[in-house]
Amino acid sequence: MDHERDLLMIPGPTIVSPRVLRALSRPVLSHVGKEFVEGFMEALRLQKWLFMTEGTPFMLAGSGTLGMEAIIANVVEKGDRVLCVSNGFFGERWEEIVAAHGGVVERMRFDWGAAVDLRQLEERLDAGGYKAFTVEHVDTSTGNANPIDKIGKFAKGRDALYIVDSVCGVGGMPLKMDEWNIDLCLTGSQKALGAPPGLTLFCVNDRVWKVVESRKTPVADYYADLKRWKPVMENPRGYFATPAVGMVLGMLEALKIVQEEGLEARWRRHRVYSQAFLAGLKALGLKSFPEKGHEAHTLSVPVVPDGVNDADMRGLMQLKYGITIAGGLGKIAGKTVRVGHMGSATTNDLVATLSALEMALMELGYKMEPGSGVGAAEKALTSHGTEA
Ligand SMILES: Cc1ncc(COP(=O)(O)O)c(C=O)c1O
Repeated sequence: MDHERDLLMIPGPTIVSPRVLRALSRPVLSHVGKEFVEGFMEALRLQKWLFMTEGTPFMLAGSGTLGMEAIIANVVEKGDRVLCVSNGFFGERWEEIVAAHGGVVERMRFDWGAAVDLRQLEERLDAGGYKAFTVEHVDTSTGNANPIDKIGKFAKGRDALYIVDSVCGVGGMPLKMDEWNIDLCLTGSQKALGAPPGLTLFCVNDRVWKVVESRKTPVADYYADLKRWKPVMENPRGYFATPAVGMVLGMLEALKIVQEEGLEARWRRHRVYSQAFLAGLKALGLKSFPEKGHEAHTLSVPVVPDGVNDADMRGLMQLKYGITIAGGLGKIAGKTVRVGHMGSATTNDLVATLSALEMALMELGYKMEPGSGVGAAEKALTSHGTEA
């Protein structure tokens, strides 16, 4: 079987467009030569457009976790209190990063998959005294999307910096950094932006620079000290450390694809995919893990039905039908699986994935009407009139 035609339907890394792959296969350029410098500038300009911000864009070699860590390393000093809001695996990661940098972690944990209680959050913020608070846009472990727009209303006029992890959101779901009062927001190259893993992209506003400039202690990281990178991000002719030349140009191509599609159209396409996939799951009698009405548009997290072994199901989908989906993460491993439908994924990929899921379930003895999931998804896809 030709594995080059397999479908990677995990929630990141996601399928990379041949256009981006071609950009990645070009000869390596000088990091201070005109062609690369202009490409980097354009990529950073598109990043600002994507995040909808006037803040400073950073594009660094490293995964999403580097972006999280760089943000905390620059903002948090020993003894600073940080409120970490979580309802899944990645929300809890902030707690570890803050602690690693000497911050005092104030946990605000909700059940995995449950919505964040906005009233409770507002009360905690009113109690005050936080240097920053962290929120997941989409927690990729549970498939929940949090209302970062509504939370942004509470952020207005407070000293606490509003930090959003949009690793699995931006490019697939609405994110309006400035309008929603987000001070720091990060993502990774490998999810809804459709580039390979290897870069973290984040944006920082003026409020953050004031906090960084008024630090009493120096930033303990050298590579992740944002003041060293800022001149490069403002003018990529400068040098601090060698940028990932090939990756940046791959990212530029991916960002151009996002721009050509348009943000509104892209958000709509992801919403339709999510609705179609959820309709398919429902028709198959499968439950979706995140609380109803709080589902992310970039991935779906079905609950594995009783009597079915998730590894067998994923194994069949992969080996027999050439479609890779992901297992559940952390404490919901074995009980859930995760299907990414973001970035470069197409309607064909979505329908093929549901079809493979159905066939695998059937082979494992799960009772259902063949084609019912695909049929429901097709109805959802066509009733929206999407050509995607
Ligand atoms: C929501 C979220 N945050 C952070 C991360 C960490 O990113 P990375 O694995 O690129 O370090 C991930 C990775 O899947 C994620 O999904």
